[in-house]
Amino acid sequence: MLDVTDLHAFYGKSHILQGVNMTIREGEIVALLGRNGVGRSTTCKAVMGEVQPQGSVMFKGKEIAGKKAYEIANLGIGYVPENRDIFPGLTTRQNLILGLKPGQKEGQGRWSMQNMFDMFENLQRRADVEASVLSGGEQQMLTMCRTLMGDPDFVMIDEPTEGLSPQMVQRVAELLKEIASRGIATLLVEQKLSIALDIADRVYVMGHGHMVFEGTPEELKEREDVRKEWLEV
Ligand SMILES: Nc1ncnc2c1ncn2[C@@H]1O[C@H](COP(=O)(O)OP(=O)(O)OP(=O)(O)O)[C@@H](O)[C@H]1O
Ligand SMILES: [Mg+2]
Repeated sequence: MLDVTDLHAFYGKSHILQGVNMTIREGEIVALLGRNGVGRSTTCKAVMGEVQPQGSVMFKGKEIAGKKAYEIANLGIGYVPENRDIFPGLTTRQNLILGLKPGQKEGQGRWSMQNMFDMFENLQRRADVEASVLSGGEQQMLTMCRTLMGDPDFVMIDEPTEGLSPQMVQRVAELLKEIASRGIATLLVEQKLSIALDIADRVYVMGHGHMVFEGTPEELKEREDVRKEWLEV
């Protein structure tokens, strides 16, 4: 589904991504772990074309490095950035509609608006109120659901559980499993080792600008050295 090879990215003169290699297969949940500032979000942005990438990003067999973000979205990559960027003045329903791709009608694709309301009754209850009144957790759900409305084949979700209650974290985990069950590949950027180990098929750990570990959750559990050096504070 996604093959990233020797990916580099810069902010001005700062060389942030220094040769990232990463593969994500169909229907797989892959967790991307690492400490603050190692470049996890920048990896997502470089794949999405929001940051200029150098290197290769192959998506469904085609090179997408150098394409514009909206072109990449139209090809089937969804991105939920770490700031919950809902449209606060629009209703929940209007926010969801804005997730559709150009020319896509509601109800086409894997997800309908009713699907979202069935999964998250809070969104249904607040369908016609301004999204600004939703709680932080509800806004996180709304951002994820809006991205799914565009029917992506691959989604990158950046720290969806940050600041959420344990109950809401559980809901996010359920949604991630539902996404995988529909055959969608997921890159889950996380701080919390526990949720990543619970639901991921594979895990990457990022050091400063490149991957320092790749393996299954079980393999990471055995590697106390990796966790000590690259994850624990
Ligand atoms: N717009 C920007 N301009 C300049 N430097 C940036 C910018 N965004 C991020 N950086 C720097 O790039 C590095 C990587 O940032 P990135 O956001 O990818 O980290 P991260 O792994 O997602 O961590 P976290 O989300 O915890 O901050 C950091 O040192 C950060 O300070
Ligand atoms: Mg980040």
